[in-house]
Amino acid sequence: MDTQTVVILDFGSQYTQLIARRIREQNVFSVVLPCTAPLSDIQALHPLGIILSGGPSSVYDADAPAANPKVLEMGVPVLGICYGLHFIVHHLGGKVRSGTKREYGHAEVTIENGATPLFTGLPATLAVWMSHGDEALELPAGFRRSAVTSNALAGIANEERRIWAVQFHPEVHHTPLGPQIIKNFLFKICGARGDWTPAHFIETTVAAIREKVGKGHVVCGLSGGVDSSVAAVLVHRAIGSQLTCVFVNNGVLRKNEFANVQKNLRDKLGLHIVVVDASERFLKKLTSVIDPETKRKRIGAEFIAVFEDEAARIAKQTGGVDWLVQGTLYPDVIESSSVKGPSQTIKSHHNVGGLPEKMKLKLIEPLRDLFKDEVRRIGRDLGMPEEILGRQPFPGPGLAVRILGEVTPERVALLQEADEIVVAEIKAAGLYSTIWQSFAVLLPVMSVGVMGDQRTYAYTVAVRAVHSEDGMTADWTPLSYEVLKRISSRIVNEVRGINRVVYDITSKPPGTIEWE
Ligand code: XMP
Repeated sequence: MDTQTVVILDFGSQYTQLIARRIREQNVFSVVLPCTAPLSDIQALHPLGIILSGGPSSVYDADAPAANPKVLEMGVPVLGICYGLHFIVHHLGGKVRSGTKREYGHAEVTIENGATPLFTGLPATLAVWMSHGDEALELPAGFRRSAVTSNALAGIANEERRIWAVQFHPEVHHTPLGPQIIKNFLFKICGARGDWTPAHFIETTVAAIREKVGKGHVVCGLSGGVDSSVAAVLVHRAIGSQLTCVFVNNGVLRKNEFANVQKNLRDKLGLHIVVVDASERFLKKLTSVIDPETKRKRIGAEFIAVFEDEAARIAKQTGGVDWLVQGTLYPDVIESSSVKGPSQTIKSHHNVGGLPEKMKLKLIEPLRDLFKDEVRRIGRDLGMPEEILGRQPFPGPGLAVRILGEVTPERVALLQEADEIVVAEIKAAGLYSTIWQSFAVLLPVMSVGVMGDQRTYAYTVAVRAVHSEDGMTADWTPLSYEVLKRISSRIVNEVRGINRVVYDITSKPPGTIEWE
């Protein structure tokens, strides 16, 4: 069965990804395209419906983002949200003005002028979230008001042309009945089937991978994280022994990680894994390196070198390697095609950047349409253990970016011990799955302490725990004093070489999650 797709045209709203998720939560597939996407790209997706997102601009701004107005004439149902409403009004001959009584935040909307399918099942008034100052002043011909606030227009409809729009944001949490509006658009207006389930995704993806790969051979670099593991299991389900996974010990993994990943993925899930213990090679490259970017670059380059060697070996055995699996997720895809333009590089994140070009491998990215929580759902459906799926993110350059100053085998060992205690205590407190990341950072700061009757002079560890939706922004977690106390006393008592523990209370921005 073909996949029904709702297209969201992004006018730059901070909520665009949320719209995509709200649709997918109804088991309907959605894609985000920049508003400037050519009409042919939109048509090629045979959209079931089109959503015009919000955005910070005003339609009269000189550089106001604009879509091809022909999207309003495709005969496909359209839902405009906020700026999307202004865009519709402006391009179909109505008028928009800067709101005199700017409405931001909570507002109450009254539905009027009889029933529109968009508002089926809703009460006569509802709480909503507004975030734009502009409003529609004159409606284009054929449109009627469908909702108002006490002082502004809140919704318009043109059933004949199948165009609806709302001034508020149904996709955000602050519009409690927003999901009903999204559902109405999908099911009452677009006629969605709601069959984009994990099972459907797995079935269609497995079939597509099989067709793409044919008799070719595929390699996958495992990191032990959720994304590369789910990607590998999915590809394995499609092509079985034509997939070889490579798992490299880069010397900066967590304690026992090298063994644990093998146990979980090879023994429990049956993946064919080649392991390479390259710790010494990596640590040698990190000798005397203090600069964070240099650490990242050296680790990235070394990974490519090790991976190339292994792939060459695998190619000899299998008669050639054609494909590389990568665990790219949808937010990265959207980010790189977004209209907002490239943001400044704060840290080089790409763990295997340059690998496919260098090795002339074609890419398989089975998760490039998914958000992180969807990857977990797929993983569950694939029967993967919670131990893998519930893992907090771990950066590609590993503990190296959590050891400030030089990375030495002794420092790695110290941090591995401290990190294990932090994770164990967070798990014991039942917090592991609600916290985005919780870990220890080894500081190059020595201080004086006293243990028994002995003077100590040893390292400091910073504990970091953050809440986050996607790693882009984060709030430091107010761990209870009890939990902090246990972490601190265990680290100082159990890890020889660390005599002081501090807690990092910096959010992102202005901090970043990792210290380097
Ligand atoms: P920052 O430190 O930039 O981290 O606030 C945001 C999120 O990204 C993770 N991170 C990485 N992940 N390779 C990765 O796969 C990397 O090089 C890398 N650097 C940071 C970090 O753990 C956090 O979740």
